[in-house]
Amino acid sequence: MNIDKIRKDFPTIDGKRVYLDSACQSLRPVQVINAINSYYKEFPGCGGRSIHKFGNKVSEEVDRARESVRKFINAKERKEIIFNRNTTEGINLIANSFNFQKGDKVVISDKEHNSNLLPWLFLKRRKGINLEIVKTHNGVLDMNEFSSKVKNAKFVSILHSSNIDGVTNDMKEITKISHENNALILVDGAQSVPHKEIDVKKLDVDFFAFSGHKMLGPSGIGALYGKKELLEKLDSFLIGGDTVKDTTYDSYILEEIPERFEAGLQDYAGIIGFGEAARYLMDIRKDIERHEINLNKILTEKLKGKVKILGPEDASLRGGIFSFNLPNMEPNHVAMILDEQNVMIRSGYHCVHSWFNARNIKGSARVSFYLYNNEEEIDKFVNALKPLLK
Ligand code: ALA
Repeated sequence: MNIDKIRKDFPTIDGKRVYLDSACQSLRPVQVINAINSYYKEFPGCGGRSIHKFGNKVSEEVDRARESVRKFINAKERKEIIFNRNTTEGINLIANSFNFQKGDKVVISDKEHNSNLLPWLFLKRRKGINLEIVKTHNGVLDMNEFSSKVKNAKFVSILHSSNIDGVTNDMKEITKISHENNALILVDGAQSVPHKEIDVKKLDVDFFAFSGHKMLGPSGIGALYGKKELLEKLDSFLIGGDTVKDTTYDSYILEEIPERFEAGLQDYAGIIGFGEAARYLMDIRKDIERHEINLNKILTEKLKGKVKILGPEDASLRGGIFSFNLPNMEPNHVAMILDEQNVMIRSGYHCVHSWFNARNIKGSARVSFYLYNNEEEIDKFVNALKPLLK
């Protein structure tokens, strides 16, 4: 991976501003920006409906994007990819379309993002599902507790990589155990897809939700993968325009998958940009994780003993995430002081309030790396932080 060459593709990388918040949202390369613009400038029509030139071009480009995203996670068929707004919407689609009943056991971990906690808390309140939460220790899922709690479970919904400490779960093993117990499994892949090669067939997961905005794509676009035979049995969550083949005043015939899950006019520019992002990353992503871990090791070495790191000390277990706290300083305060020096990091609870609250920790400051970050930016960050270390 040629980092210097890659950096030239990103208009906001200017050597002055240091962006270390890609776990929240990545920067976008010019290729993705151009793809988004091409929709508005060249063929701003409706896909899947109008049969004129603009309409046909949109349908073709949406198909192409779906094929790129399919290839990106190695799904078997294009129809297994449902476009939606983001990981949150994908998880909500499953929680609300699946026929959960009172008493059904759903297993999650204690480190889930609100997007993979709230839909289940809602179902607990509305339908009386039995929600079991498996503990993590120093970032790592307790596999004994998981094996015990998954017994008689109907469903497992679990994060792949954590946005607070970067630790990645052994999804192959978790899926194997879930299936041995006849539970279906949904994976929150928001923080793994941008950084590592994902093969949903090899992992054998049933559903996999992820977002475009963390993998160089536009904001407000994401995808849900589901095994074809499961999606075909799933009820629809949102229905309306383009989700049906036919209607009368008292009946309807649903479209095939994936269209039956993509209600209303879609974010065509977003979908097209998302496809472009998948193509941009396709050949280089095998090197991304190694690059991020390398940066994380360098940073960890520089700050060892000077800050309190969340998760394992070993940077190779934390991917591109370096979450930390300083004694006697609020994380938001740290981030604001750094921002004054053009170093952008994230601070707060990172939408995982439950984990912080359970430990009485008032959030953290977080550096997150991506393919375009380099060592010089680590130095700029450390220099900006230095006055606060005293
Ligand atoms: N979940 C996103 C983050 O970690 C928003 O920053």
